[in-house]
Amino acid sequence: MKTLKVELGSRSYPILIGEGLLGDPELLRQHVPARDVLVVSNTTVAPLYLDTLSAGLRPRRIIETVLPDGESHKTLTNVARILDVLVANRFARDCTVVALGGGVVGDMAGFAAACYQRGVSFVQMPTTLLSQVDSSVGGKTGVNHPGGKNLIGAFHQPIAVLADTRTLGTLPPRELRAGLAEVIKYGLICDAAFFDWLEEHMEELLAGDPAALAHVIYRSCQIKAEIVGRDEREQGDRALLNLGHTFGHAIESATGYTQWLHGEAIGAGLLMAAAMSAGCGLLSAEDVSRVKNLVARTGLPTRIDSVSPQSALEHMRIDKKVQGGRIRLILLRKIGDAFITADYSEAALDATLHEYFGLAA
Ligand SMILES: NC(=O)c1ccc[n+]([C@@H]2O[C@H](COP(=O)([O-])OP(=O)(O)OC[C@H]3O[C@@H](n4cnc5c(N)ncnc54)[C@H](O)[C@@H]3O)[C@@H](O)[C@H]2O)c1
Ligand SMILES: [Zn+2]
Repeated sequence: MKTLKVELGSRSYPILIGEGLLGDPELLRQHVPARDVLVVSNTTVAPLYLDTLSAGLRPRRIIETVLPDGESHKTLTNVARILDVLVANRFARDCTVVALGGGVVGDMAGFAAACYQRGVSFVQMPTTLLSQVDSSVGGKTGVNHPGGKNLIGAFHQPIAVLADTRTLGTLPPRELRAGLAEVIKYGLICDAAFFDWLEEHMEELLAGDPAALAHVIYRSCQIKAEIVGRDEREQGDRALLNLGHTFGHAIESATGYTQWLHGEAIGAGLLMAAAMSAGCGLLSAEDVSRVKNLVARTGLPTRIDSVSPQSALEHMRIDKKVQGGRIRLILLRKIGDAFITADYSEAALDATLHEYFGLAA
């Protein structure tokens, strides 16, 4: 097992990464201190892992809430269901909410924990690659609104993150690839050596090799923990974690959040961020082709045929990163060196959107 720490003063917390953590009573004793525990999961993950976790948590009082599976269920209604269960069982402020599932479960359980009695403790047990490398760390919680994704939420840090890598054994390959897009993102933002490592080990990762996966989870969490420790509320550097996301969110919203997984949209978003950076005279052609090759080898989709460039631009304009009417973008000077800017060439943006969106010529 490997351990990291998110340094946030009195709200610091450990990230534990290893095989079989879910069923380890000693680890659970250390990291889930409460007597009353609400475990939130969904209809896909609960049949696979909830019994193991609950057995490890005994003899605490354990209540289970199993929500429907899917991004379309990341709603205030389902958070209200979690809150209803907490109230109905007379949980006090010293209870703990445990999220067992991917980012959807984690975001909702975390938001319910942030709201219940103005904040109760919360533990993340992420079971997808995406949630193990990204969403379980950093304290962003929330739900979607018909008017937009993640529009309602709160910062609420967990007291621990327990990433059981064995759970990835049941993850569908498409979800694994989507998680790898966020992993590639970390290399591009700030770690060229990690990007090299991914180029060398992509086949092992796609085959689900436990040691290779454990390595990328560790390094990704280390990078995210370091950035969150510096800038918890995204006043500065944390925005770098949105590399590829302004383009990616445009893909997700223009396709109605049904066709593209988040990580898939981010994979294509990384390609567009690279193309855009080259168009602005920043990134070399060689680096652009390395990004293209790695995303393609990951098996992620690389074109958005069903959305026009005009529609994509409109969707980019309603992203949260817009300030004073100008879209801010994360661009690359080279692999491993990203920065945020509102100062870029409109012609390069237009060319990038035309390269990736719309029916291929
Ligand atoms: N809070 C943050 O900082 C942050 C960051 C990135 C993404 N997110 C959010 O995370 C969500 C995406 O997370 P995700 O990619 O984990 O999606 P998800 O939670 O929908 O999980 C993907 C699918 O895998 C299933 N699944 C989960 N674990 C499994 C396992 N071990 N075996 C088999 N199936 C399993 C789920 O039931 C689901 O069908 C989005 O809502 C996104 O907005 C949040
Ligand atoms: Zn993301």
